[in-house]
Amino acid sequence: MIVPATAENVVRAAQALAAGELVAFPTETVYGLGANARDAAALGRLFATKGRPTEHPVIVHLADAAALPRWAKTVPAGASALARAFWPGPLTLILPRADGVLDAVTGGQASVGLRVPSQPVAHALLEALAALGCDGIAAPSANRFGQISATTAGHVAEEFGDAIALILDGGPSHHGIESTIVDFSRGDPVVLRPGSITVDELARVLGAPPRSAGAGATRASGTLASHYAPRTPAKLLPRRELLAAIAGLGGANAHISVLAHSVAQPPEFEGAWFDAPGESAGYAQQLYANLRALDAREADEIWIEAPPDGPDWVAIGDRLRRATHRD
Ligand code: TXA
Ligand code: MG
Repeated sequence: MIVPATAENVVRAAQALAAGELVAFPTETVYGLGANARDAAALGRLFATKGRPTEHPVIVHLADAAALPRWAKTVPAGASALARAFWPGPLTLILPRADGVLDAVTGGQASVGLRVPSQPVAHALLEALAALGCDGIAAPSANRFGQISATTAGHVAEEFGDAIALILDGGPSHHGIESTIVDFSRGDPVVLRPGSITVDELARVLGAPPRSAGAGATRASGTLASHYAPRTPAKLLPRRELLAAIAGLGGANAHISVLAHSVAQPPEFEGAWFDAPGESAGYAQQLYANLRALDAREADEIWIEAPPDGPDWVAIGDRLRRATHRD
């Protein structure tokens, strides 16, 4: 059930989490599907509901960095610096896990993913849960495994129907794509997933650019080749190829849906045409809503204008490549 994120409903949601139930909640990146991170049975329900393989680790959301020592065994200097610079915010740190962190959270790995979200509802929920003696919410993105992430409460309801007791509605997510993930558990920092905090911004704080992981380097589901994927076959086309492909259809184009950000809809195009913002922040904010709307048109194919180059488009390009990947 979708409920507005009033103070009363936030307390209700915290009580539900403390009682072992699942609650969906807004964050500044995407909506999360949350469970008490110290409750193995609740984590079992979380994986079952999401349809996610149990060896895939989930991120633990914390009210503030003061909780770090309860979750991480050691915090390297670079990780502390990033936490100071970007928390609360869209950054996940992978750190050696502290004793007592459940295997269900880490997928049995020796590391744990931690993030302090900035979204006020998420923060209020974490504080309300802390008042009940629970110090972390394990939350993957609130979508079924491999599907498009949710950036509104309505998207969460589309994904899960009545399978989640409570969906806190805090409005559309501000960033629209998932957090930047930086792994400090194996030595030098490695970016496992690009996000709205760019490699340049990380480098400024770290004093040197972190490495970027190749796909499949760790068990990070957001790094699978196919992910965030619409059901309709989708492909990426550079601007000129997109225009040529549309011209090549000779007017028989109603079975194609297009997501463009610089190309204007040609007069002869009769399929569904979506104009995305031409700047990266707006494009990212609307990306998953656009992919969902495109998918709902049930066209034969989705054609997406390839994004520009540039550091602020890296995360968008990453998500679009995975959304359009076909084996
Ligand atoms: O912005 C976000 O990060 C959102 C919001 C809800 O916080 N969450 C999110 O969760 O995107 P999820 O589960 O969809 O993606 C988290 C990624 C997964 O690819 C997971 O494998 C990786 O983080 N991850 C979590 N813990 C890890 C660990 N210990 N080592 C390596 N990767 C880890
Ligand atoms: Mg996800």
